[in-house]
Amino acid sequence: MELLRTLLFVPGNRQNMIEKALHLHADALVLDLEDSVPISEKASARAQVRDSLPKLTQQGAAGVKRKGRKVFVRINSIASGLAEDDLEAVITSDIDGINQPKPATGSDIKEIAAIIERLERERGITAGHIKLIPWVETARGLINAFDIASASPRVVGISFGAEDFTLDTGITRTEDGSELLYPRTMVVIAAKAANVIPIDTPYNNFRDEAGLINEAALARRLGFEGKCLIHPSQIEPVNSIFCPSPDEVDHARRVIAAFEAAVAEGFASTSLDGKMIDIPIATRARRLLMTADFIAGK
Ligand code: COA
Ligand code: MG
Repeated sequence: MELLRTLLFVPGNRQNMIEKALHLHADALVLDLEDSVPISEKASARAQVRDSLPKLTQQGAAGVKRKGRKVFVRINSIASGLAEDDLEAVITSDIDGINQPKPATGSDIKEIAAIIERLERERGITAGHIKLIPWVETARGLINAFDIASASPRVVGISFGAEDFTLDTGITRTEDGSELLYPRTMVVIAAKAANVIPIDTPYNNFRDEAGLINEAALARRLGFEGKCLIHPSQIEPVNSIFCPSPDEVDHARRVIAAFEAAVAEGFASTSLDGKMIDIPIATRARRLLMTADFIAGK
């Protein structure tokens, strides 16, 4: 089981934020070389990120245990002409993977995966070590979301990027997000069909915790398993939204107990608190307990 509940983006040209990130317990840090870095700073940010990686990824760095925290780097898009130089700079065994912006098709993923494969070979990194999390954030990207998610065994998740998606499509964003239900759901279904983790878009109003919690709860109901973040204060509330609550765990235990009692009597359906319980409902309860146990043991 892989946990990607919280992916904190850290601008690659902000040394103070990179230092701060050493002490933060998001499931993954994503050092950004793309849209949070101005063109004039692309080269220096690349060097800064590369130099920070050993510190960020070392076990016990700065007195903080990584506790399985992953480190990704967001490279620039293929269209920018900067992607290959970004990969040359940052592919080492220090990172867990690459976050790829604005792919239009599965062949964009294959192009990046081929460069990674060469660099792994040249640098003595275990083949397949470097994973990929592509964004789905353009109209073409959404149409090809399954193709993108299944283009390479390196892909472990896909993230929905609402800001670029609405820019590309001319959709107007609103606080309730109803205009984004369709693309969000498409991303979740494409991810599930490809057996990778669906990750929701960042919430920009970083001082509005209630708004963040609402949006993350909606994302979880839609099937997302995590969310991109832009500010450290978003880590804790979002980690807890994507973690089964004590009430959910308690309910799941009761569902399984009732279901097992029914099976022992030769039935595959029974009831609990006036609601029918059958195989998919018991399976869902077991999955929820597995997730809760996994998080507790982390
Ligand atoms: N990663 C690491 N540290 C961060 C951070 C981030 N994404 N965002 C803020 N911080 C740090 C600040 O440096 C500050 O540290 P300090 O207490 O040591 O001074 C602390 O957290 C509190 O920050 P705050 O003052 O509340 O916010 P800010 O005005 O410094 O930054 C933003 C606000 C939006 C500019 C900043 O959060 C940011 O750049 N976020 C990421 C943007 C990004 O990556 N965009 C692409 C996303 S897809
Ligand atoms: Mg984007």
